[in-house]
Parts: sequence; structure tokens; C-alpha cells
Amino acid sequence: MKVAIIGGGPAGLYAAILLKKQRPQAEITVYERNRADDTFGFGVVFSDATLDNFEKYDPPSYRRITQEFAYWDDIAVHFRGTTHRVGGNGFCGCSRRTLLLILQDRARELGVTLLFETDIDDERRFADADLIVIADGSNSRFRDKHVDHFRPKVDLRSNKFAWMGSTRPLDAFTFIFQETEWGPFIAHAYQYEVGRSTWIFETDAETFARAGLEGLSEAQSADRMAEIFGWFLEGHPLLTNRSMWRNFPMIRSERWVKDNMVLLGDAKATAHFSIGSGTKLAMEDAIALADAMAQAPTVEAALQKYEQGRREEVEKTQHAADVSLVWFEHVDRFWDFDPVQFAFGVMTRAKAITYDNLTLRAPDFVSEVDKAFAKTVRAKGFDVDTEKPLAPMFQPFKLREMEVANRAVVSPMCMYSAAEGVPGDFHLVHYGSRAIGGAGLLFTEMTCVGRDARITPGCTGLWNDEQQAAWTRIVDFVHANSAAKISLQLGHAGRKGATKLMWDGMDRPLEQGGWDTVSASPIPYFPDSQVPREIDRAAMDRIKAEFVASALRGDACGFDMLELHCAHGYLLASFISPLTNARTDEYGGTLENRLRYPLEIFEAMRAAWPAHKPMSVRISATDWAEGGITGDDAVAVARAFGEAGVDLVDVSTGQTVRDAQPIYGRMFQTPFSEQVRNEARVATMCVGNITTADQVNTILAAGRADLVALGRPHLVDPSFTMRAAAWYGASDIACPPQYLPGKEQIFRNSVRDRQDFDDLKIKGKPKTRAELKAEATKPLAAE
Ligand SMILES: Cc1cc2nc3c(=O)[nH]c(=O)nc-3n(C[C@H](O)[C@H](O)[C@H](O)COP(=O)(O)OP(=O)(O)OC[C@H]3O[C@@H](n4cnc5c(N)ncnc54)[C@H](O)[C@@H]3O)c2cc1C
Ligand SMILES: Cc1cc2nc3c(=O)[nH]c(=O)nc-3n(C[C@H](O)[C@H](O)[C@H](O)COP(=O)(O)O)c2cc1C
Repeated sequence: MKVAIIGGGPAGLYAAILLKKQRPQAEITVYERNRADDTFGFGVVFSDATLDNFEKYDPPSYRRITQEFAYWDDIAVHFRGTTHRVGGNGFCGCSRRTLLLILQDRARELGVTLLFETDIDDERRFADADLIVIADGSNSRFRDKHVDHFRPKVDLRSNKFAWMGSTRPLDAFTFIFQETEWGPFIAHAYQYEVGRSTWIFETDAETFARAGLEGLSEAQSADRMAEIFGWFLEGHPLLTNRSMWRNFPMIRSERWVKDNMVLLGDAKATAHFSIGSGTKLAMEDAIALADAMAQAPTVEAALQKYEQGRREEVEKTQHAADVSLVWFEHVDRFWDFDPVQFAFGVMTRAKAITYDNLTLRAPDFVSEVDKAFAKTVRAKGFDVDTEKPLAPMFQPFKLREMEVANRAVVSPMCMYSAAEGVPGDFHLVHYGSRAIGGAGLLFTEMTCVGRDARITPGCTGLWNDEQQAAWTRIVDFVHANSAAKISLQLGHAGRKGATKLMWDGMDRPLEQGGWDTVSASPIPYFPDSQVPREIDRAAMDRIKAEFVASALRGDACGFDMLELHCAHGYLLASFISPLTNARTDEYGGTLENRLRYPLEIFEAMRAAWPAHKPMSVRISATDWAEGGITGDDAVAVARAFGEAGVDLVDVSTGQTVRDAQPIYGRMFQTPFSEQVRNEARVATMCVGNITTADQVNTILAAGRADLVALGRPHLVDPSFTMRAAAWYGASDIACPPQYLPGKEQIFRNSVRDRQDFDDLKIKGKPKTRAELKAEATKPLAAE
């Protein structure tokens, strides 16, 4: 077998090693345009888990790599004169140059041919090769040459960054967030060998320009960075080596394989440096390729197997890297945070590290986070314990005069079980049991302001006395038997009206018994949906009056709060999104115009709703579709509602158009809540695939939302909050006297269960290499 490998970086060299081990007879050549020891960059980092993989696949190179490594366990965050250190991270660094020399030696030893100073410009010279590995880095010439086939997407990010080095020793992965007269600068730094550390500097484009970095030579820009970070460098110089300022290219390729050619490493996909995974991904690609080659009968089958088997893992890492890079791009959102909350945000930015996880590793740090959180609650007038504070989820919150006992919320969820808009026994049990279950606040399902405002024939409404009496019964039950507050969500279905019950076909038009629908513009949801009538001013006035009438009825029912539904493509959302609003009057065109009618309704309701009771608005913060609402628009929408007197923005996303492409994942809508809260400076509630109390605490402690709503988890577990209270020891949670023995039992058992769980986690966690090394080098205790 003949294998040609273009590019002698980590991906190309490691692929050569593994393939040669597998097929000693194969003729494997690596073509590298640089000289053998001509490598650029400073250090690379690997996690302990990646090193375990290297040990399994090639012990000799693993041993040499680990002999050269610097290990560390801690992450240190320096911000506004404070330092927070968190242990248990298990990382190590090595010089990129050393890594490549080790891999070159190992490849040679196995019989791979390495041809340096050989620039390949045409893969046709390898016509006789069985396999061509394209590992030529992020600027891949061959990916670009076959652009129509590989279909790469290159997203050049807005921040500027430069790799430099220093002799400054570091005993932790170090983040320094530095205020300057031009704006914020960030340093990501770590030691990779004795006397050498990598320094990646990052800043936004405006700060970069204001600092006059444009056009400076490498040496001049290093001098400027040395001035900014001089207090930390302690006289150590900054070193440069092709340390040009660049914009990070986020690369994804739709295909990785063409005939017998395969893309590996940065050539196919990149991962932002802030999670230190570029070299890891490159070498793990080589592992995946070697595995596929070992298992499949032909090269063609192996390449298909490689792509199919590897893609999900790469995309997961890329997603974590993207979330992390976005956090760094928007660091100004958190700049006025308390430093400990800021540090918590840095640690938890990419979702893998959470509140509970940090409690195990760095209990003192989390205790400081809890205290800072409790102090903000005390500053709002609550008499909470700031010395031994409860977890953020169990800290109270206030909107106008409404106080909620904790931050867990039952999200609005249609039950499609009403008859002519009247909630029945199902609803009483549904809302009643969730209130008793401990959530601080409950939202009703979207309750419709008129018969024709309903989504389905099963939706609840609040336009007549019978409905009002039925809702009053529910609200009274909630207030009599729990400490929960209950908010009414009012909405109008718009073009999504006259559709089937969820279990008969979500958003599908009714075949019989439908009614006429209206929307901002006459655009149907599905091509075969009913075409809505473009709403005229008379209908707008009528519907506005219906909203006000329902709000007044809601107050009479005793609801504590009122939410206006402006999300998910319903009538008011259809005005806000440009994808559903094609109007040419003063309600279409600019965002200001598109917001006019929803704001009109909000203001009319606000005037009718008692001043001491709060109001929220639910928005879709992105349409997840080209040309639709984006996070930046959502900030403008939130500001406009904020000015109109909204107390809380309930940040949801999507469901505007049917061909949207949402990116799902854990807590997938939380970044939008974070953006709205910290840019528009309004209180927010986040929602969406939040399933654990640990996630709730992580979101709250990091300042990404003020309240956290859970929908589906509450459908199967009305006592979600009671269970979490037992876990976190929040014993003040209200419980009706009938259920007290159950509460006492779960609280008693939770103390033991939590101890067992923590012990198991601590015992089950392998020691990090840094810990092992520290133990091995510890002087023996005197006899
Ligand atoms: C200049 C530079 C500095 C970096 N510094 C660091 C760092 O300090 N720490 C860190 O963790 N990561 C660093 N990275 C990023 C990280 O190393 C990459 O994620 C990782 O190297 C990807 O490995 P790769 O093998 O896919 O690509 P690369 O490491 O980019 O290797 C690609 C190789 O292909 C060669 N090549 C390209 N085109 C041709 C051609 N036509 N013919 C022959 N050879 C060709 C290149 O010379 C290069 O050696 C750096 C990347 C670069 C490009
Ligand atoms: C069955 C069901 C009905 C829903 N009905 C409503 C609704 O009436 N109003 C609303 O704003 N959102 C509604 N949603 C959206 C939820 O409130 C929530 O935003 C969504 O389910 C994501 O949260 P989760 O992942 O915690 O379920 C509904 C969701 C479900 C699953």
C-alpha cells in the first residue's frame, strides 16, 4: 500500500506513525514544506484524557511526550486585582517544536519517509497512491482546491489574537483579564517546559484599533503587550515567532472525503484556542483514521467509516469551543461583575464544568460564589444568610411587589385539554401539583384572549366568566396550598391558529371546525396551512381590547403576574420577525416599526394591570434562520420592552418559521438570555433543555439569568424543586402539612445520598497526572 501525507504537523505525522505500525510493509511518505526543525508556535496543551489515548495507541511516543511535559492542575483567573484558583483540571503542556521532533523521530524509526522543504501543489503527482491524507493545516490548499466538493465554511471571528511566548514561569493555566485605557485585553497563558510559557493575547477589533496595534511590527506589538501585562510578567520578556495578529477562522467542512483523499486536523475543522483542543483534535483524527483503516475492508470503506464515526465527536468539541470563543468575544458583558462571579463565569463558560462539579473540586471557591450571590440578594432587601448561604437556586427574587421563594419556574406549557377554553380538573391537578412541588413561580399555558385567538380547540382561554371562574379555582388552590406564585401567560395564535392538538399533528391545520386566522402578513406557516388574513387596524384594535379585557379578568382571578406572549411565531411574534412581517405600513420594515403593535398591546395591558404586579414578555431571541431575528435584535427588543415597563424578559427562541435550523444542546437558549440580560440590562428568565438543579445553579451563579424555567422536566416531575431543595439542604422550602413526612424523609436521606455520591465521584475520579507527579516527587515523611 502507498500512502501520501501532505503536511507534517501533528495530524500528518501521527497518522503516518499509526498507519505504519498497522501496515509495516506500506510505503508511507510525509511531504512537509518547512524544514524539519522549522516549526512555529510555542506550546500545545493536552488533557489527561487525550494522553490516555496516546498511551494506548503508541506507547513509545507517549513516553517521550510525557517526559517533556509540564503538568498543572489549577486554573487561575486574574481580574480587577483578584486571583481565583480552581484545582482538579488535569492538563499538561509541551513545546510544539518538541512534540513535532518527537513525532518525526518516531515516524523515521518506524520507516516512514519524511520529505521536508517539499511544497506540494498538485495531488495528481500521487496518482499511484492508495490513500492521500490532506493534513495541510487551516489554510489547506487542497480543501480550497476542491471547495465545491468539501464545501468548507470559514467564519473569521471578530476578535484579534496573537501567539507569543515568555520565560515567565507559571504554575497554573492562567487567564488574565486586563482593563486598559483602550478597552479589555485578555491573556491565555500556560507553561509548557521549564522556563517557557505560551501567551495568547486576545482583544476585540475596536480595542485593537484604539491601542494602535494595527501596522505595528511583531517586536513593537510584543512591547505593547509587555507594557499592558508588565505587572504580571515581572520583568520576563515576551518572545515572538511569527506572532502576527490574526482573526481566528472557525472552519467546518461539509465533507471530509473525496475519492481516496481525506482531510485531517485543522484542514477539515478548527477549534478555538481557548479550549486548547487544536492539536488534540488533529492527533485524535489520526487515531480515528487508523482505527477505520484497521477495521474496514477497503480504503473507500475506511474513509467513509472515519467520517461517519468521527464527525459527532469533532462537532461536539467544536461546539464547546464556539461557546467558549463567544464568551471571550463578549467579555465586556461581564466586566462589571463581582470578580468571583466573573471567575465562576470563566470556569463554566463551555458547559462541561458546572456548579456541583466545582463544589467537589474547589468548595471554598463555590462557597465564595454563593456568598457573593447571597449578598446581592440581601442588597435587594431580603433577610438571607450571607455567611452560610443557600445555593443560588434557593435565593429569593423580587419583581415589583411579588416575591418568589426560589428561582425555579414551571415554564408555560399548553396542555391542549380545555373545552371551549375552560380549564378543567386536569388543569387543577396539573398546576396544583406543580405548585406543591416547590417551584417558586408557575406560568400558565398560553391562554388565549378570544375564541379565534386559540392555537387549537384544546387551548385555554380567558374571555368569558366561565373561564374566569375556572382559573380562579386554580389560582386559589395554588395560593392556599403552596408558596408558589402564579403568572398568567396571554397570547394570540396568529397564523398558527386553527391547528390540531399536539398529539394529532403539531401546527398542522385542522381539517374540520377551523376558524379564520390573522397574522402580520398573509404568509402561511406550512405551504398547505391556511393563509392568514393580513390584520387590519380594526382587527388590531379589537384584539388589543381583548388582551386588555383578559388582563383585567386575570387580575380578578388573583394571578400574581402577567406575561405577554411575543414568541414562537404567534400573532405578536409575527410582527417582530422580518421573516413573517412583509408589511409596508408603519408596522413593517424597521425593527422599531415591527415592534410597534406588540408594544402598543403591552402598554395597554400595563396600564390596566395593577402597578404593584409585575409583567413579563416572552420573546424568540433568534429565529435560527437566515434573515430572521438575531441575538442583537433580541437586545433591542428587550430594551424597547424595558422602556415600556417590562420587569422580566422570558428568553425563548425559534418556532417562527418551519425551515429554521436550531442548534440544540444542553441549555441551548441560555446564551441568548445571557446576552439580553447583560447587554440590555433587564432581568431575564432562561429556558430550554435545562434538566438538572446543577444547571440551574450554574446559570444563576454565572449571571446568565435571574430565573430559570423548566418545561419538560416538570411534566414528569412536579416535585423537581422539592427534590433539589433536599439535595442542597434548602430546608425552608414550603410544603403542605399533609406531605410533611415525605419532606422529612427526603431531606434526611438526601444528606446521606449526597455524601455517598460525592465520595463515589471523588473515589471514581482518576488522579490527574499533576497529582501523581506531585505524589511521586513528595519527600518521604521522616520515620
Ligand atoms: C503558525 C502556527 C502556530 C501555532 N501555535 C500553536 C501553539 O503554540 N499552541 C497550540 O496549541 N496550537 C498552536 N497552533 C494550532 C495548532 O497547532 C493546530 O490546531 C494543530 O497544529 C493542527 O494540526 P494540523 O496537523 O492539522 O495542522 P498544522 O499544525 O497547521 O500542520 C500543517 C502542516 O502542513 C504543512 N503544509 C501546509 N501546506 C503544505 C503544502 N502544500 N505542502 C507541504 N506541506 C504543507 C505546514 O507547513 C504545516 O507544517 C498553531 C498553528 C500554527 C499554524
Ligand atoms: C407540551 C409543550 C407545550 C408548550 N406550550 C407552551 C406555551 O403554551 N407557551 C409558551 O410560551 N411555551 C410553550 N412551550 C415551550 C416551553 O415553555 C419551553 O420553552 C420549552 O419546552 C423548552 O423548555 P424545556 O426544554 O425545559 O422543555 C411548550 C412546550 C411543550 C413541551
